Amino acid sequence: MPIYSSDSDWILETKRTAYAFGLTEAGLLAHRYWGKRLPARGDYPAALETEGWASFNGPSEVTPLEYPGYAGSAYTEPCLKVTFADGVRDVVLTYVSSEVLGDELRVHLVDAVYDLRVTLHYRVHEQYDLLERHVSIENLGNAAVTLERSFSAAWHVPAQHDYRLSHLVGRWFEETQIVREPLTRGTKVLESRRITTSHGHNPWFAVDSLTEPALEETGEVWFGVLAWSGNWKLTAEVSAFGQTQLSIGVNDWDSAVRLEPRETFTTPSSIAGFSSHGFGGASRALHSYVRYSILPHGVQPRKVLYNSWEATFFDVDEASQIELAEIASSIGVELFVLDDGWFHGRNSDNAGLGDWWPDEQKFPNGLTPLIERVQALGMDFGLWLEPEMVNPDSDLYRAHPDWVIHFPTRARTEMRNQLILNLAKLEVQNYLIGLIDQLIKQHDISFIKWDMNRNVSEPGWIEHDEPKELWVRYVEGLYRVWGALRERHPDVIWQSCSGGGGRADLGILRHADQIWTSDNTQAVTRLKIQEGFSQVFPAITMEAWTTDQDASYIPLEFRLHVAMSGAFGIGANLHHWNAAQRLEAAKQIALYKEIRPVVQTGDLYRLQSAFAGPLSSLMYVLPDKSEAVLFAFRTHLPEPVALPKIRLNGLEETAMYRVDGLEGLLSGAALMSAGLEVALKDYGSAVLQIRRVG
Ligand code: DGJ
Repeated sequence: MPIYSSDSDWILETKRTAYAFGLTEAGLLAHRYWGKRLPARGDYPAALETEGWASFNGPSEVTPLEYPGYAGSAYTEPCLKVTFADGVRDVVLTYVSSEVLGDELRVHLVDAVYDLRVTLHYRVHEQYDLLERHVSIENLGNAAVTLERSFSAAWHVPAQHDYRLSHLVGRWFEETQIVREPLTRGTKVLESRRITTSHGHNPWFAVDSLTEPALEETGEVWFGVLAWSGNWKLTAEVSAFGQTQLSIGVNDWDSAVRLEPRETFTTPSSIAGFSSHGFGGASRALHSYVRYSILPHGVQPRKVLYNSWEATFFDVDEASQIELAEIASSIGVELFVLDDGWFHGRNSDNAGLGDWWPDEQKFPNGLTPLIERVQALGMDFGLWLEPEMVNPDSDLYRAHPDWVIHFPTRARTEMRNQLILNLAKLEVQNYLIGLIDQLIKQHDISFIKWDMNRNVSEPGWIEHDEPKELWVRYVEGLYRVWGALRERHPDVIWQSCSGGGGRADLGILRHADQIWTSDNTQAVTRLKIQEGFSQVFPAITMEAWTTDQDASYIPLEFRLHVAMSGAFGIGANLHHWNAAQRLEAAKQIALYKEIRPVVQTGDLYRLQSAFAGPLSSLMYVLPDKSEAVLFAFRTHLPEPVALPKIRLNGLEETAMYRVDGLEGLLSGAALMSAGLEVALKDYGSAVLQIRRVG
């Protein structure tokens, strides 16, 4: 039983970790412990009773509060900030009761005076060593209450002064770059104000000690994410009293939620964990959880896809797509995706978004002849959509100019010549559900690529009671649309794309099966993008294509191998590939089909970081350790050079393994301690299968 609950103390245990909090004598709900699981319940420290420090710092500032409301003299980052109908802006949460429902602990708090109930939900994911927290806030009174901030959780790491924060930064074409920086006294804020997750930062954190840093497979790491695809905020605060608190939730910037009497607001979940096996252990915990607990299609094998965007851009038609489909199927592709440019009036990015029927010139007989040909070639058919967007030059916009997010007195800023439909509005949601439902019903579509190519501007919704709800209600509306479509078409596989990886988070992964990692497919840059992405997301979600963006200087085999370490696809113009290149691609696709179960369901070990130098390697190992795949890459290294051996990981020490290309067998211990020699020339790469024998 992983949850111990009394009326003043709570301990949540997973296989290897524990989390504890309790009431102080003064009745404050305080954090007690987060780290390695301890043998006895009495081992966990008691809730800190802290008296404060001088007249300037009261107990609620110096005590690590489990879910701090903005009240009294609590100057640290609050999780909850409320304005009551009478103008009072101080929320005093007191403990009422707790209950355990299976793997969930609920802790009920109420405001001391007003009829506001706050319930802290903790779900223990014992087998993944993860904890999931969210909060529900109920207005039980007779007057509306405004929530100005309602975070999902405050995560406290043990009190000490020397932490380091790892996080992911980026921009379009350069997503998920790993940054590690010291946390010093004060508050570091990471956020999105773009109505979506953003390319710039990802709602993930990992904290380790600066003086005893964690490595890939060793050291202590506290880590977490927010499962939310809208504006989010992470504050990493080091207090004057040696406490470090990571608070995460829906961004409060320009935001408010109005709770009418009897209404409840439920925050998104924050999922977090503690790893004593470094950053690798942290990633593997998240990966397993995503694979088995979040993804709608779980570990159903992802097919090798071909996407025609970079081959034809907007210049698509039935004949050109059929030609590409024929080549794609001849090299072993299993899913053919028709990208942008197929719908009414779409000859460039100036027009068409919103008018989702086949362009009469490009597809005079509709999409069905192409779909039938693709299927006759033995492939599934996939289609690109950008449902949230509209070009002013479209029939949809001409009919409903009021459906876009805007302020009536301001010009509507266009980005890529498009505006954003207000998915906070029920009529817009219903329209999209009906439209896409019909599209899927009328065509045999197995895969949808859902794109989003701009961020918000002029965030108006002024006819709504609380216009600042836009940020939250938009995302809830988006989830409702995806949810309804998934329910009606449960077999369709969905991809989340926002100009590459602009919408990558655990919230969207409850709806999408995979994510388009980046528009940047240059293999060398991509190694870093994928390594950053892999901190959070498993390979099965990491859509990776080989294109020709870097064909002039990177060998095809290297480019294919980089993409094969994720959910593999091809995005090149296949007309430009000669017979030898097509043969090479066919060979690698066949290999990918063999290694797919290991890549898509195995545990990831990052052996040598692409951020650290010109040699990088990673491997996937099946959970039962019977099979593994090693990927190794060398970019440029001036000769002469003695390449270091690659020390593998995750194998069974005493078992014997056969490695591709090697005579005889080697023990797991030898492969992990002595390592494996992999000879690579500049821009050389290797994919080696490793199988347990006996
Ligand atoms: C951005 C995506 O990331 C690309 O793959 C492609 O689908 C274009 N949009 C199409 O406009």
